[in-house]
Amino acid sequence: MDKAKRILVTRKIPEVGLKQLEAQGFELTKWTRDRPMTPSELVEHSMDHQVLLCTVGDRVDRAFLATCSHLEIISQYAVGHDNIDLNAATDMGIPVGFTPDVLSEATADIAFGLMLATSRKMFFLHKTILKGEWGDFKPTSHLGMELTGKTLGVFGLGRIGIIMAERCKNAYGMEVIYHNRRANNAAEKALNATRVSFDELLAKSDVLSVHCVLSDETRGRFDQAAFTKMKPTSIFINTARGAVHRESDLIKALQSNEIWGAGLDVTDPEPMAKDNPLLSMETVAVLPHVGSGTMEARDGMSRLAAENIIEFYRTGTLPHMVNPGVLKN
Ligand code: GLV
Repeated sequence: MDKAKRILVTRKIPEVGLKQLEAQGFELTKWTRDRPMTPSELVEHSMDHQVLLCTVGDRVDRAFLATCSHLEIISQYAVGHDNIDLNAATDMGIPVGFTPDVLSEATADIAFGLMLATSRKMFFLHKTILKGEWGDFKPTSHLGMELTGKTLGVFGLGRIGIIMAERCKNAYGMEVIYHNRRANNAAEKALNATRVSFDELLAKSDVLSVHCVLSDETRGRFDQAAFTKMKPTSIFINTARGAVHRESDLIKALQSNEIWGAGLDVTDPEPMAKDNPLLSMETVAVLPHVGSGTMEARDGMSRLAAENIIEFYRTGTLPHMVNPGVLKN
């Protein structure tokens, strides 16, 4: 590089990747406040930088990109990238990197944990202890349900969904069905998974776990019509993006016993309001979007976000790129 490239890092992320970038001669500006930048702060700070290292809370929309079309690369510190207008980035010739795989085990663990916690009402029962309500042994109260031999339905069987399915098959001998646009032959072979229609997924799943990206096609896909088709004994798990389900419809489906329970690591909106009715339901477990929240995964994401930038300036391409078409133009 003739002149050091300047990178705006929009949130505090693990140092490991940032050190790699500094060692390669990049100049870093780190946003240190404990909140995302406002849209105007993001524009203002991006102005004198060639690289944006951003994450899920940053709105990289067409308006932002039109003003900051000087950016040479966007490196997203996340696997999801619905905060970035990809069409706009591609139109402006800006490659976008992301951080897949390194967080798949961690996120599948959260899906698995929420499934188990919901099935045994763990979060609700924990709250009863905090309220001093741990009484005597009651043979018929707060009964959960078992998972052994049940059917897991995966909506979006990709990197994370397949690990969730493996965990469920190995732990509980669950049968795996899935709904994808394209068949996942590897999963069919490894897990004896069966690809089904969306309606079949709804009708047959005892646990339905969402692992898709958020797109025009998946936004609001789990709405009242969908919940009505699910089993009254079923558990809905979402660790992908909150906007894939309609939260008001989910609340109604739980209140009217159309489904039995829900485990959510993502909500709509985020953060969830503390008086949201979901938080007081016996068969609901909610976490504050911590799917990738292990030291290993977050360090791995930091490394990949850095490698995408380093390799772009070294070779002209990114090892983990969301819009490869942009480099052909
Ligand atoms: C987190 O939600 C991610 O997409 O990495």
